[in-house]
Amino acid sequence: MIVSKGLTKYFGAVKAIEDFTVEIPDGQIFGLLGPNGAGKTTTMRMLCCLIKPTKGNAWIDDLEIGNKDDAQKIRQMIGLLPEVPGLYETLGAYKNLDYYAQFYDVPKAKREESIKKTLTDLGLWERRNEPVGGFSKGMKQKIAIARSFVHEPKYIFLDEPTASLDPEAAKTVREYILELKARGDTILINTHNLSEAERICDSVALVKNKMVKIGNPKELARGLFTRKIRITIDHIANTLLNELASLKGVSAVELTKNQLILSVQNPEKQNPMILSFLLAHGVNVQFVSEEEHSLEDVYLKLIGEDQ
Ligand SMILES: Nc1ncnc2c1ncn2[C@@H]1O[C@H](COP(=O)(O)OP(=O)(O)O)[C@@H](O)[C@H]1O
Ligand SMILES: [Mg+2]
Repeated sequence: MIVSKGLTKYFGAVKAIEDFTVEIPDGQIFGLLGPNGAGKTTTMRMLCCLIKPTKGNAWIDDLEIGNKDDAQKIRQMIGLLPEVPGLYETLGAYKNLDYYAQFYDVPKAKREESIKKTLTDLGLWERRNEPVGGFSKGMKQKIAIARSFVHEPKYIFLDEPTASLDPEAAKTVREYILELKARGDTILINTHNLSEAERICDSVALVKNKMVKIGNPKELARGLFTRKIRITIDHIANTLLNELASLKGVSAVELTKNQLILSVQNPEKQNPMILSFLLAHGVNVQFVSEEEHSLEDVYLKLIGEDQ
């Protein structure tokens, strides 16, 4: 488990992040989400024991990031994909990974197995002996990501893992991250890609040099917006719209073409009543679904309010 309390970093007078407090249970994908300069990289670097907090503290499995002996142990348990991953450009893909795994004392047989599997999954096994200096940006990023978990760390920190990738490569990487989670790893990912965070993160922290909001992407949306349901119908009389709006728990009604959008406080409870009402008035109901607010809606609302 990763725990931070009041984690704060100033670079001189520049506030990178202030009072960052979280508890990240094992086995989760946790997203740090925020605009450029929001303090995501700084937070990650503190958790990885690369820089010291100005104030506050954090623990990984009860090991304290600020404690020298603990920090040594933490480094063995974590893998990091940094913002600018340096690879050995003249070495082949395989050698890059092997070098790193050796550094972590991974036994030879284990290294061979793990590197082969990773490179095969990433579609780079055939090119394992080519110097990575000649690889495309996306291919290099894949190697750098592979490098962050080649020693099978329990905690994996990925700083903008898909930022420079084309959509297909980004998808491969996302699938990979989900596979790591399925293996039981805990993954912290920095991103400003909202749809990506929404797709893979169990929880997200919206940051802007401080904690803006934390929670499950869906719950965040529900906490901020009234829930809406979309009902597809063939036709509805205008007079019925007013009656619909006055039903208990319905706060707004919009009609666009054959789509009724109702703002409903508690759809689980009120939908049956709404549908009974429509059916009783001879409205032909074709589809009913919940309008999902995206993490983008949440992000724009919260980060916007914070300006
Ligand atoms: N090593 C550093 N020296 C001085 N300022 C820094 C340093 N690292 C980050 N900062 C500043 O801290 C703030 C947060 O940066 P960063 O953590 O990189 O944000 P993000 O990763 O969310 O884009 C920015 O204003 C940045 O300029
Ligand atoms: Mg960053």
